[in-house]
Amino acid sequence: MRRQPVDVPTAVRRYVDRMVASGHAESTFQVVVEREVPEVWADPDRLDQVLANLLENAVRHGDGTVEVVVAARTEPIGDGEPVPVLAVTISDEGEGIAEEDMQRVFTRFWHGRSRGGTGLGLYLVRGLIEAHGGRIAVSRAPSGGARFRFTLPAEVPEHVA
Ligand SMILES: Nc1ncnc2c1ncn2[C@@H]1O[C@H](COP(=O)(O)OP(=O)(O)OP(=O)(O)O)[C@@H](O)[C@H]1O
Ligand SMILES: [Mg+2]
Repeated sequence: MRRQPVDVPTAVRRYVDRMVASGHAESTFQVVVEREVPEVWADPDRLDQVLANLLENAVRHGDGTVEVVVAARTEPIGDGEPVPVLAVTISDEGEGIAEEDMQRVFTRFWHGRSRGGTGLGLYLVRGLIEAHGGRIAVSRAPSGGARFRFTLPAEVPEHVA
């Protein structure tokens, strides 16, 4: 990995712009960024892969408006003490993921009933997030659609900050 300080909201907007340029309606995406979100110490290409997979899933397997919220939080990662994190939540308004499948979505080759995919996307996404010291989880959006939330440690090492 080639890590550097990365501005996640910029990366999100860049990827959304790319999807709009490739034919998706601009109104499909709603990006909400809290004020004062920190930079993260990340590999920008890997982060793009994460965003690409989650946004493409939301459009391909989900429906309606795809909302991306970027927020600063203080919370534990795994069993650790609370630390500053950047939290990114991607929600759609599709059918969502059944409770009993939520454990499986991140496993290799699992693709439920959907065709056309290899079932590798979320497996790779989880690996990339965890390689950055972050976590990812799936739940249900208020609309019933899928909601994926990942966190990344918000600390940039002192010598480069
Ligand atoms: N936003 C979503 N809404 C509903 N189901 C989803 C959503 N995202 C993922 N899924 C389900 O989880 C499965 C696994 O997703 P994953 O990204 O790992 O594989 P894929 O999209 O099928 O294939 P690939 O990403 O390799 O092209 C999907 O096939 C789909 O059934
Ligand atoms: Mg996918």
